[in-house]
Amino acid sequence: MSSHSVDDFKDVVGHFATGVVVVSAQTLDGPAGFTCQTFGSLSLEPALISFSASSQSQSWPRVRVASTVGVNILESGQESLARVFATSGVDKFAGVSWSPAPGGAPLLDGALAHLEGRIVSVTTQGDHELVVAEIDFVVRHEGRPLVYYRGGFGVLT
Ligand SMILES: Cc1cc2nc3c(=O)[nH]c(=O)nc-3n(C[C@H](O)[C@H](O)[C@H](O)COP(=O)(O)O)c2cc1C
Repeated sequence: MSSHSVDDFKDVVGHFATGVVVVSAQTLDGPAGFTCQTFGSLSLEPALISFSASSQSQSWPRVRVASTVGVNILESGQESLARVFATSGVDKFAGVSWSPAPGGAPLLDGALAHLEGRIVSVTTQGDHELVVAEIDFVVRHEGRPLVYYRGGFGVLT
């Protein structure tokens, strides 16, 4: 039996500052995506990344079945984009400029870096799914990262 509440746990893990990404995919019903901070590199050879997707997410089931998945590492000026892609039930891509990666995944203009790959494993871990993708395409741009720390957005100076 754990001695801490869910809020305690969220508050403590929130002390770990992270970058912010938008996981994206092109689907039969148009582009889909969601804001994510559980992104990380998992293996260099092969190039594998991981992230965890909430079982409550409406976008994840659409991303999961896409042929490729995109990861957009957000730039310091993209806080409003991060907020839009964290809002359920809205047309997140309305007015957002993007271009397709080689495999078709939406790459958001202005992001700091992009990756595209194929999902190779999904395992249920509590109330989320742990996703592993093998990366086939990477590109970086100039800029500073958007960061997330203790429930708030910030930039690295
Ligand atoms: C900074 C930040 C980080 C987030 N990280 C994750 C994450 O790692 N995994 C996840 O499933 N949801 C994460 N979320 C929540 C999703 O973005 C949100 O639940 C989702 O976008 C809701 O829309 P959907 O129902 O269309 O998926 C995060 C939200 C914010 C603001």
